[in-house]
Amino acid sequence: MRQLFVAGNWKMHGSKASIMNLMTGLNKKSAEIGATKVAICPPTIYIDYAQKCLATDKIALGAQNIAIEPVQGAFTGETSAEMLKDFGCQYVVIGHSERRAIYGETDSEIAQKVVTALKAGITPILCVGETLEEREAGNLEKVISTQLNAIIQAVGIDAFERIVIAYEPVWAIGTGKTASSAQAQEVHAFIRGQLAVLNAAVAEKVIIQYGGSVKPGNAKELFAQPDIDGGLIGGASLNADDFIAICTAGE
Ligand code: PGA
Repeated sequence: MRQLFVAGNWKMHGSKASIMNLMTGLNKKSAEIGATKVAICPPTIYIDYAQKCLATDKIALGAQNIAIEPVQGAFTGETSAEMLKDFGCQYVVIGHSERRAIYGETDSEIAQKVVTALKAGITPILCVGETLEEREAGNLEKVISTQLNAIIQAVGIDAFERIVIAYEPVWAIGTGKTASSAQAQEVHAFIRGQLAVLNAAVAEKVIIQYGGSVKPGNAKELFAQPDIDGGLIGGASLNADDFIAICTAGE
């Protein structure tokens, strides 16, 4: 049995005041969280502040990005794995479609970031997903396999025991258009199947989150699918009631 895992990706949102407010709500409602694993990924500059506001051990911390260079050095604007660990980050989102599309992150850079995170003992939340054009052109499986294979080649299949995958169809992110639970399940099963060809035991264990307009109203049905093991939540993770409702939707 895989344990559900829900992570909140705050993206570039928040202020000290709004984060204090959000954390107060999360702390209060965290007692409702059962066996589901939960993490929040604040903007880097607020990780320390969020940690200071955190008063429950039911919510772990993560980051939204990581430098390829693991320790320190002349890399202006970057945050290393060692620094993230110093501030208690257990997870890092890698290869989010916004980073691929807006900042031009390539599969090769994403693979190097996964390597760095794994070496530091930080669990990567590896995002994969297709655009609407790619889906409509019939390239969904090709796109997902290419994104996955870049990582498999870099770290090997066994490393997926320590990697969380987030399937996020780009057309469903922040648009209010969720993939139907059947559409999402189909891709999740495809991803697990791709891994199973290389190592069935690892494929059976790997956590595959769904991301893209997950809300309290659709989380239960999504999380009930056999290959959907939780979610990567953007907009709804900025509201304590909504986020906790999603965190408890599978219980
Ligand atoms: P959304 O974002 O829930 O706001 O659609 C999900 C994500 O980008 O991780």
